[in-house]
Amino acid sequence: MSAKTESWGTRVGLILAMAGNAVGLGNFLRFPVQAVNNGGGAFIIPYIICFLVMGVPLLWIEWASGRYGGKFGHHSTPFILDKMDKRKFWKYVGVFGIFTNVAVAAYYCYIESWTISYVFHSLTGTFNGMTQGEVSGFYDKYLDVRSSTTGIPYEAVVFYVVCLILNTYILSRGLHGVEKAAKIGVPLLLVFGGFLGIRSLTMGSSMATAEFPDANSIAGLNFLWKPAFDSLANPTVWLNAAGQIFFTLSVGMGTIHCYAAYVKSKDDIALNAMSAGWMNEFVEVVLGSLIVIPLAAGFFGVDWLKENAGFGMAFRTMPYMFEQWGGVLSALAGMMWFGLLFFAGITSSLAMGTPWMGFMRDEFGYSRNKGAMSFGLIVLLMGLPTVLIYNFATNGTVNSFVFNEYDYWAGTVSLVVFALAETILFVWVFGLTKGWKEINDGGDIRVPDFYKPIIKWITPLLLLAVFIGSLITPEGNDWVNAFQNGWVLDNGSIIKTIANAGLKEQIATATDPAEISRLENQLLYTNAARVLLVLLFAGISLTVYRAYAKRIKEGRA
Ligand code: PHE
Repeated sequence: MSAKTESWGTRVGLILAMAGNAVGLGNFLRFPVQAVNNGGGAFIIPYIICFLVMGVPLLWIEWASGRYGGKFGHHSTPFILDKMDKRKFWKYVGVFGIFTNVAVAAYYCYIESWTISYVFHSLTGTFNGMTQGEVSGFYDKYLDVRSSTTGIPYEAVVFYVVCLILNTYILSRGLHGVEKAAKIGVPLLLVFGGFLGIRSLTMGSSMATAEFPDANSIAGLNFLWKPAFDSLANPTVWLNAAGQIFFTLSVGMGTIHCYAAYVKSKDDIALNAMSAGWMNEFVEVVLGSLIVIPLAAGFFGVDWLKENAGFGMAFRTMPYMFEQWGGVLSALAGMMWFGLLFFAGITSSLAMGTPWMGFMRDEFGYSRNKGAMSFGLIVLLMGLPTVLIYNFATNGTVNSFVFNEYDYWAGTVSLVVFALAETILFVWVFGLTKGWKEINDGGDIRVPDFYKPIIKWITPLLLLAVFIGSLITPEGNDWVNAFQNGWVLDNGSIIKTIANAGLKEQIATATDPAEISRLENQLLYTNAARVLLVLLFAGISLTVYRAYAKRIKEGRA
């Protein structure tokens, strides 16, 4: 079958694939941590507002742009955007829609590979009888490059490669493979999530101990859901809420365009986009907040949670908690939790492979096998540095330098930049009149008219605000002070991050030689990661340029 005629098998398959694309590790690992670190209930209101006025419009924009490009045989953002305006530079803006996917896949598949390993270890009883410290130590040792004399964490590398092979294999089966994975993975993850959610709700204070007398799972939920309205005035919370919306919905990535490009031109997108998007929100705000947070609060109490909330909790703490349930239930719960993460992860990482495959197929006639293999290989090359430079400082903090750089530039900043650009293109260049028609054509619902001014004004303005806010974040995130007493950039602002300002400050003030050499290492790896990212972006841009030149030569441009 040619790329032009390949399309989704069934509507259910399409919605599940799109939902699987969105529902990912972000829902279960990133959302709870963001929520806790941004004050629990303080986070939820900006989060929901960002979903409604930024996430939902972006879903429609991306589904509509994708289906539109698909009519012309384009399945990835470079030529989808190109088709929407005469100006030539849009195809290079579209490079983002391949770049972010490859770069995110590089570290995303690493986490995904841990989940496979942890399913294995849960079932084989590795965590039986371990103390909390030992479970946590297992995680450290698993990732630490110093745990083997050669500096290679063998088990981690093996599972990473297994995970990439699995992804490559399913991708090589084309859209059909992706659809099948979603049809199996999404329902299973709902069942697993439902089971764990109910278990955590019914736990209450039954696991309280002398050491943690305040442990209560319901208190964890309260913490998360008691709205704190004063947070609305805190720009940093807004930035984080917007960032989470991007990541969780997979908008600003190019994956939605690609999936939507395989929707038949007369088929609905207005309702499909909502079905998949709301399904993601259900999984995130209901299931995502029903597991890690209440469970941790149920074992250790809310105060512990506030202090210890972090990304590693899912791997460092959860297996220990499951062990306390004892017997078969602990193995089962571990299998369900890491299995759920695995299904959430793989249905997302598969999505990240499709823009590259679609592009190489459309432009250079790559077969599915060749497309999938080349994707797997590039991800492996980009990903190995994240695996091999994932170690620990003597003070116990994680030195995942390369991993963090990828996540920051590809998984955070790029999304906003691309979303802003595509929104301007769709609303102001392509034109909202045409755009509105594209969204509603063949629709099983009509998008309410009040969304017109939202898409036209509020979405782009909010995106602009998010971008500028991240670019020039004031010192200490104290916006009021910055407005009143002059603007000093925070080391976390994009501008200062580019300059590595925070790190250089630390190096300048450090006195312990070991600490200085550690920091200098960090600087080196950080810059090396950036070089890799720039090379990747340049390489994809060059490929787009070559595709364009080929089109001109063949009279197809
Ligand atoms: N939305 C996914 C998650 O929540 C991440 C993702 C990013 C998926 C990019 C596809 C593309 O984990």
